[in-house]
Amino acid sequence: MTLSLIFAAWIVTAFHVEIAVADRSTYIIHMDKSFMPKTFASHHEWYSATVSSLDLTDKTSSETAKSTPELLYAYDNAMHGFSAVLSFEELQELQKSTGFVTAYPDKVVTLDTTHTFEFLSLNTESGLWPASNYGKDVIVGMIDSGIWPESQSFNDDGMTEVPARWKGVCQAGDSFNSSMCNRKLVGARYFSRGSQAANPQASRDGNSPRDTFGHGTHTSSTVAGNYVEGVSFFGYAKGTARGIAPRARVAMYKVTGSSGIGSDILAGMDQAIADGVDLISISMGINRTPLYEDPIAIAAFAAMEKGVLVSSSAGNEGPDPMSLHNGTPWMLTVGASTIDRQFSAILTLGNGVSIIAWSQFPANALLVDVPLVYNETLLACNSSELFTEATGKIVICNDEFGDLRTQIDQVTSSEAAGAIFISNNSQYTEVGDLPCPGIVTNPIYTAMLINYAKSTVNPTVTMKFQQDFLGAKPAPTVAFYSSRGPSPSYPSILKPDLIAPGSKVLAAWAPITPAASIGSNLDLSSDYNAISGTSMACPHASGVAALLKGAHPEWSPAAIRSAMMTTASQLDNTYGQIRDNGNSLTYATPLAMGAGQIDPNKALDPGLIYDTSAQDYVNHLCSMNFSSKQILAITRSSNYICSNVSTDLNYPSFMAFFNNNTPSTVHEFRRTVTNFGDGAATYRAKLTVPPGTLISVTPDTLTFSDKYESLSFSLSIDSHQMKGTTSFGSLVWEDDGAKHTVRSPIVAYKMV
Ligand SMILES: *[C@@H]1O[C@H](CO)[C@@H](O)[C@H](O)[C@H]1NC(C)=O
Ligand SMILES: *[C@@H]1O[C@H](CO)[C@@H](O)[C@H](O)[C@H]1NC(C)=O
Ligand SMILES: *[C@@H]1O[C@H](CO)[C@@H](O)[C@H](O)[C@H]1NC(C)=O
Ligand SMILES: *[C@@H]1O[C@H](CO)[C@@H](O)[C@H](O)[C@H]1NC(C)=O
Ligand SMILES: *[C@@H]1O[C@H](CO)[C@@H](O)[C@H](O)[C@H]1NC(C)=O
Ligand SMILES: *[C@@H]1O[C@H](CO)[C@@H](O)[C@H](O)[C@H]1NC(C)=O
Repeated sequence: MTLSLIFAAWIVTAFHVEIAVADRSTYIIHMDKSFMPKTFASHHEWYSATVSSLDLTDKTSSETAKSTPELLYAYDNAMHGFSAVLSFEELQELQKSTGFVTAYPDKVVTLDTTHTFEFLSLNTESGLWPASNYGKDVIVGMIDSGIWPESQSFNDDGMTEVPARWKGVCQAGDSFNSSMCNRKLVGARYFSRGSQAANPQASRDGNSPRDTFGHGTHTSSTVAGNYVEGVSFFGYAKGTARGIAPRARVAMYKVTGSSGIGSDILAGMDQAIADGVDLISISMGINRTPLYEDPIAIAAFAAMEKGVLVSSSAGNEGPDPMSLHNGTPWMLTVGASTIDRQFSAILTLGNGVSIIAWSQFPANALLVDVPLVYNETLLACNSSELFTEATGKIVICNDEFGDLRTQIDQVTSSEAAGAIFISNNSQYTEVGDLPCPGIVTNPIYTAMLINYAKSTVNPTVTMKFQQDFLGAKPAPTVAFYSSRGPSPSYPSILKPDLIAPGSKVLAAWAPITPAASIGSNLDLSSDYNAISGTSMACPHASGVAALLKGAHPEWSPAAIRSAMMTTASQLDNTYGQIRDNGNSLTYATPLAMGAGQIDPNKALDPGLIYDTSAQDYVNHLCSMNFSSKQILAITRSSNYICSNVSTDLNYPSFMAFFNNNTPSTVHEFRRTVTNFGDGAATYRAKLTVPPGTLISVTPDTLTFSDKYESLSFSLSIDSHQMKGTTSFGSLVWEDDGAKHTVRSPIVAYKMV
């Protein structure tokens, strides 16, 4: 059995950010102070005069005199230069000024870090953070590759005493002793017998809870890392790091190095349940395994019985359908989404025109006025021989003539100073790295770049790295790599359940594993790393689940999942529907994003809950053509018997399969919702009918007279006029004034 540990050293490409050439915009202009003419008493006076001299308007014309260039700030400490509101013509004029160095549009530079909590609207003023006390006293069991205990993200400043109920230990091992735990990292153990048995020759780094890889350190700090100031990924994403539940505690169960084995995972999950974790986060899964042979699904059943939610990653095998793992009804299955932050560089041509585009060259490098070469035969950038004429220069590569990844490798191993990669492959920036100085910019700039390179005698470019661009649109999108439903091991329940940020997530790292490289041979170490995968999405959902557990300790695992699913968002930052970066940015379907993007503050107060008991899961298992032995493998106990077979599970989403061989084109679901709002409430059903189907909900009004009252309804879907294999819709229960909207996706799926 092989196990795929999920995170990404991925293939693929770029994205664009806007260039600013509207009427007038704010620019930041760098100046060389050594050129300041002696006639000026101060730099402020000089900059002021420089800006005034740009005023090209004919003072006699009242029409054009309305708008003039304007100096905003003069800077003398952080940089030399000024900011000003200029037209494009004025900017071009400005480059001819004495002492001009470079200019770029203002909106770019926003400094920030573990930005995902902000993107998810978590804040200190209201909502889930204060309501849950930031996850105080919730213990999250991490099933992963170990932990780097020295990481500042696991310092215990501000943490209270460990709850007395906790039974975990801090197990000593290679380079790890029992004093390395604290009030943040409350436990650490390792499980390596299975992998050593399978591979006796393998290195023995498994004999310790220490993370020699980085994955477990990253996921743990994403869930519950403490506040750490002044972190960044080589100058990108600067700011204060923190986990989604910054006061929750971490217990590490190391079950794997860079690859692991089912028996160790089972042992780790087993111990976690025994130690008394409140929640398990597992960013790994086993592909193409039947449910009853999947140790994660099996251990998760036991966890669920004890009231412990298991939050898991869907896998990185997307965008192919039926590519996900962990599609188990009693687990939370999390897909990945992109965020609105883009690591960037500013490219400035010798003529002063600036472009901001994707880059994560990991150095505080500033390439100033480097010669640009343009030669049509070089555009493919696919042969290092071609680079002889590019030695020490910047080349232009266009991925119309070759694969971007290959082009980046070629430039990296060449003597070129760097490159401008023209590409609109929006997947590379989700996962790729950039070991050579360069940017990846959109083809809309091709003509402009080539025109400048061809028509200028000595074309040059300047590149400034380590910029962050916030507000990239659209975001979120479903990450292209995020695995898709239906679940191969359990197709009758819709999976994934939801999506959470997974691309370019900044979190703590094991510094012995390189986090980036420059050129072909220089590996760089870092305490923080920005990586991509559903492995990074899962701990976001685990963190939210920890906060919900903190706010509502009495909620069952199914209730926590229901709250997260029924309040998830389907909209992006353009107020349009979330799109799918794995399918040319078409609208994402529930098979890609489940119920949608996790929305923590809304999950705090979901209104209605679809709750599910262990017996309910068994009743549903009994309808699934598993043998009694297979069912026993999962339930472990003959206390469960298939006396009450049910084809229905009280799940917060609806997946209707239709088979050409079966005469029925109608699927009927029964569901029960429980009122978790305050007191009496009336909810009305609002349907978005999947095209080609007929749906009815009975009753279509639910009147609750008390908190915790449960009411049932049925939803029937008729597919006889449905064309194609899939059709999507939703059911929303809405109370008066739409204080709560309880939404479930509906999928009709015709098997052919
Ligand atoms: C554990 O290691 C730390 C750092 O190496 C050391 O300061 C401490 O004394 C050790 N504790 C024990 C119990 O060995
Ligand atoms: C373009 O590059 C090719 C291959 O290196 C070279 O043979 C050719 O002379 C170059 N053309 C110009 C105009 O520099
Ligand atoms: C490079 O790309 C060009 C244009 O697509 C192609 O003609 C040439 O054969 C390629 N060279 C190599 C070495 O792959
Ligand atoms: C990317 O560029 C190519 C060539 O310019 C074009 O055919 C394709 O439609 C573009 N794709 C996107 C997503 O913009
Ligand atoms: C049910 O399971 C049996 C034995 O495992 C298998 O032969 C049969 O094809 C399965 N039926 C369906 C509908 O999956
Ligand atoms: C069987 O299941 C149904 C639906 O889940 C439930 O209403 C009924 O009470 C159950 N019967 C027994 C005997 O458990």
